[in-house]
Amino acid sequence: MNIKTAIVNGVATIEIARPEKKNALTISMYRAMADALNAARDDATVRAVLITGQPGIFTSGNDIEDFVARPPGQGAHMLESPVARFMHALFEFDKPVVAAVTGGAIGIGTTMLLHCDLVYVADDARLAMPFVSLGLVPEFASSLLVPQLMGHRRAAEKLLLGEPFTAEQAVECGIANAVLPAGEVVNHARRVAERFNALPPGAVREAKRLMRAPQREQIANTIRTEGELFAARLRSPEAMEAFQAFFQKRPPDFSKF
Ligand code: COA
Repeated sequence: MNIKTAIVNGVATIEIARPEKKNALTISMYRAMADALNAARDDATVRAVLITGQPGIFTSGNDIEDFVARPPGQGAHMLESPVARFMHALFEFDKPVVAAVTGGAIGIGTTMLLHCDLVYVADDARLAMPFVSLGLVPEFASSLLVPQLMGHRRAAEKLLLGEPFTAEQAVECGIANAVLPAGEVVNHARRVAERFNALPPGAVREAKRLMRAPQREQIANTIRTEGELFAARLRSPEAMEAFQAFFQKRPPDFSKF
């Protein structure tokens, strides 16, 4: 199984484990992560969730083969896709979610961090949202949340140019809480998640809901708008060229568009 789950000491861990493909996320992995979040929501013994990857790679983002062969449907179908189910479960999750990021966090690997409450990054972490470089558009409210976090100019570097950024930069621009040595980040994040065992769960839930409430509707609307564009762009000639280039291990050529 490429998603490992465990509940230990009040913390439900979701570990992305497909190292041979750099933890690229497939439809079945999104399904497993959505199910794990829903189970954690319904389990009163779970006080927080921890999302982690593997040493050297958090996730290389959506599996590009799936993007070509099994793209999420368009319109209402997009919202029913496993990726949308997972991101919806994360966005609506009312207990704290802590992320521990080692190595690359690409595409949805960075997008999902925007919906976590506490994010710890290893000194080897490298984040990137190369949607435009792939002929796509930002997803799951990143077009709203990234400019809000860091301003339009710095967001343009990341969302338009697709520039990768370091762990220190992730902290500086408000995506992450702190940088830790790669060998310590998961244990640190786990200890932080375990702190919720000593806190009143009802108050934590209400406080998280209040923090989210002012933007909830705007985020949901943005996710819908982005989702429609994203699904259409997945079928665009620009995206096809980018995906072919990835598989052929060559730079893409957008000069003909
Ligand atoms: N989807 C599908 N397969 C992927 C993948 C992805 N997102 N990311 C990596 N892989 C596969 C590679 O095709 C390769 O498979 P192979 O061994 O069968 O050839 C394997 O994982 C190892 O990847 P490789 O590129 O050789 O490793 P690397 O260390 O040189 O580079 C990355 C790692 C993550 C920088 C690079 O794989 C990458 O850029 N991946 C794509 C990231 C991306 O654009 N994601 C989508 C964002 S929307």
